[in-house]
Amino acid sequence: MRLLVVSILHLYICAHTVLWAQIQTVPVYKDHEIPVEERITDLLSEMTLEEKVWQLTQYTLGINNNENNIEKTVQEVPAEIGSLIYFEMGPELRNRVQHQAIENSRLGIPILFGCDVIHGFRTIYPIPLGQACSWNPELVEKACAVAAQEAKMSGVDWTFSPMIDVARDGRWGRVAEGYGEDPLTNAVFGVASVRGYQGNSLSDKNKIAACLKHYIGYGASEGGRDYVYTEVSRQTMWDTYIPPYEAGIKAGAATVMSAFNNINGIPATVNKYTLVEVLKKRWKHLGFVVSDWDAVGQLVNQGVAESRKEAARMAFTAGVEMNMRDNCYRDYLPELVKEGKISLNQIDDAVRRVLRIKFELGLFEHPYTPTVTEDKRYLLPESKLVAMKLAEESIVLLKNKKNMLPLFKQKKIALIGPVAKNKGCLLGSWSAHGKSSDVTSIYEALMLEFENKIQLMYAFGCDFEGEDVLSFTEALNIAKQADIILLCLGEKQRWSGENASRSTIALPRIQEQLALELKKVGKPIVLILSNGRPLDLSRLEPLSDAILEIWQPGINGAQALAGILSGRINPSGKLSITFPYSVGQIPIYYNRRKAARWDQGFYMDITSEPLFPFGYGLSYTEFKYGAIIPSATTVKRGEKLLIEVCVTNTGKCDGAETVHWFISDPYCSVTRPVKELKYFEKQFIRVGETKTYRFEVDLERDLGFVDETGKRFLETGEYYILVGDQQVKVELVD
Ligand code: NOJ
Repeated sequence: MRLLVVSILHLYICAHTVLWAQIQTVPVYKDHEIPVEERITDLLSEMTLEEKVWQLTQYTLGINNNENNIEKTVQEVPAEIGSLIYFEMGPELRNRVQHQAIENSRLGIPILFGCDVIHGFRTIYPIPLGQACSWNPELVEKACAVAAQEAKMSGVDWTFSPMIDVARDGRWGRVAEGYGEDPLTNAVFGVASVRGYQGNSLSDKNKIAACLKHYIGYGASEGGRDYVYTEVSRQTMWDTYIPPYEAGIKAGAATVMSAFNNINGIPATVNKYTLVEVLKKRWKHLGFVVSDWDAVGQLVNQGVAESRKEAARMAFTAGVEMNMRDNCYRDYLPELVKEGKISLNQIDDAVRRVLRIKFELGLFEHPYTPTVTEDKRYLLPESKLVAMKLAEESIVLLKNKKNMLPLFKQKKIALIGPVAKNKGCLLGSWSAHGKSSDVTSIYEALMLEFENKIQLMYAFGCDFEGEDVLSFTEALNIAKQADIILLCLGEKQRWSGENASRSTIALPRIQEQLALELKKVGKPIVLILSNGRPLDLSRLEPLSDAILEIWQPGINGAQALAGILSGRINPSGKLSITFPYSVGQIPIYYNRRKAARWDQGFYMDITSEPLFPFGYGLSYTEFKYGAIIPSATTVKRGEKLLIEVCVTNTGKCDGAETVHWFISDPYCSVTRPVKELKYFEKQFIRVGETKTYRFEVDLERDLGFVDETGKRFLETGEYYILVGDQQVKVELVD
C-alpha cells in the first residue's frame, strides 16, 4: 500500500515535471499572449549575429521557377532568410519554403514574402496615375483591399506599394506608378492605398503590409532619366516631396523603401537626414526600411562608397534595415560588427523592426497560406466590379466638340488602331500576375456594349511604332464607309514603368501619320488613348473631334470605355497630371512658383500654357457653380473657417463632379506656389439637383507653410480660396 502511495506520488511528480518541462520549452517569443516587444526581446536574446543578419537579408524566389527548377530554388534558400521577393502565383511554393524556415532553422522564424502588387495582383485595375483621375480615394481603398486579398491568398504578406513620388516629368516612365504631380493628391491616395492593403490591423484576414516608396525625391530624376541624380532643395523636399510620406507614415504604413536617386550628392539609400532625422526621429516610424533592388551595392556606382562592404556600412548606419537582393549585408555586416564599425545595438534595433512587422502580421502564429483553389482567390465577381468602377471613374474626357459623344446616332463605326485589339497595353506595367487572357479588348467590349445596334468595322491601321504604312489602306477604306472613326492609339505595355524613360512624349510618328490620313477622309474622329504618362498631343488634338484618355485601365477598362462611348456611363475623371503642349515645356505643373515678370518670359515659338491642365476633364452634362461662400472673411488663429460652394447639374444627364479647393497666399516670407490643392470632393448630382460642397479649413494645415527644416508657420495677411474660375479673399489677423 505504501509502495502504491509512493508510486502514485512518484508518478505525479514525474508527470508534473514533464508538464513543467514542456511549459518551460515553449519559448516566450512563441507565446502569442505575451506582448510583441517582449517576444522580440526574448527572440533577440536567442539569436546569433549571423541569424540576425539573415533577418536583414532579402533574396528573390521564383524567377526561374518552372517545374524543373523549383526544387533547386527552394533548397538554395537558407532556412534563416528574413524575406523573399515572391514571384509565384500560388501558395504552394511559399508553404514549402516556409516549412523549411520553420522546421529546419534553429529558431523557426517565419519568412516575410514580398511582391510588387502595384495596381492589382490578378484582377488588374488602372495604373495609379489613372486611379488618381477618379478623385475617389474610397474606391482606390477598395481596389487595394482586393489586391491585398488576392495577394495574401496567394502567399504574399507584403506589397512594395504605394508609390507616392510626386512626378512632374512625363518622360520619366515611373510617372505611371504614382498619383501625379500634386503633393496632396499623392498623400490622399497613398493613405487610401495603405488603408486598403493594411486595414485596421496587419493581422486582420487578407491584409498585407504596405511599403511607401521611393523615399525620397525619385520623381525629380533629371531629364526624366531613371536612376539618376536629383537636385531637390530642402525647401522643395519639405513642401513637395515629403507631405505624401508624412501622411503615409501617420496612416500606419508598415515599411518604407529607400529610393535609387542621389539627393543633392547624398544618395537616398545613405541619406541620414531623410532616413534617421526625419523618418525615425521626427516621425518615430517603428517599421523598417528596405533598400531598393541592388541599391546598396549600387552605391559604389554612385560614387559614394568605394566597396560593397563600405556600401553596407553606410546604408545600414543610415537606417536601411533590409537589404534587397545584392547581399551586401549578408556578406559584410558580421565582419563590420566584429571590427566595431557597427554596434550590436544597431543590429538589434534593425532586427527588432523587421521582427515587429512579422509579429504584427501574425506570421509566427500563421506562417502558412491555406491552399484555396484559384476560382476562390482571383477575379471574384465583386473584385472585378471594383476594377470596372475604378476604370470608369479614371477615364478622362479631354475634348468633345459639338457633343460628338456619346455615340447616339452613328450606326457605322470604324474602329482603327494598334490599341483596338491589343490586350497587354490595357494591363500596363507592373501588372503582377495579370493575364492578357483576363482582359476584354476594346473591340470585344464594343461588340458587347452595342450588340447588333451598330455596324462595327475594324482595321489595324498601323503598329505602335515603325514605318510600315501598308495597313493604312484598309483603315482608310473602312473609314470612308463609316459615320465616325474610333481611333485607338497609345503606348505599348512597357513603354512606361521602371527604366522606361522616353525623350519625347508624343506618340510615334506612324500613329500621328495614320491620324492625319484618316482626317482627310472627312469623318469625325474620336481619339481613344491608352498610355502610362501624359502625352504631347499638339499634333493629334487638332485632328480629333473628341478625345478620351483611358490610361492603362486594367482588365475591365475596355468595358468602362464602351459604357462611356454608348452614354451608359457619364465620364467624371479629371487629370492628376498636366498634359504639356510639347516636351519642351517640361517641367510644367500647376503649382509652380510665381515669376518675376508675369507678362513676360514666355516661349517665343510655342504657347507657354499646357494643352490640358491639372484637374481638367469634361462631362456629358453641365455643372453650374454658385458663389464661394466663406463663414467669415476675417479669421484669427485657432478659429474655424468653413467654405461652401453649391453646384447644380444644369445639363441633360446625371453625373459626378469633383470640386478642387485651392488656396493661394500672395505674399509670404517663403514664396508660395500660385495655388495649392488643399482639399477635393466628388459628389454624384442628378439632373436639376444642387449639391453643397464644404471645405473645413484648418488654418495651420491649409493656410500655413513649411520652411526648409519642415517647421510649420502661419503668417497673418490675405489668402485666397479658389474653386474653378472663382476666388474669395480671407484675411488672417492677430
Ligand atoms: C525596383 C523598383 O524600383 C521597386 O519599385 C520595386 O519594388 C523593386 N524593384 C522590387 O521589384
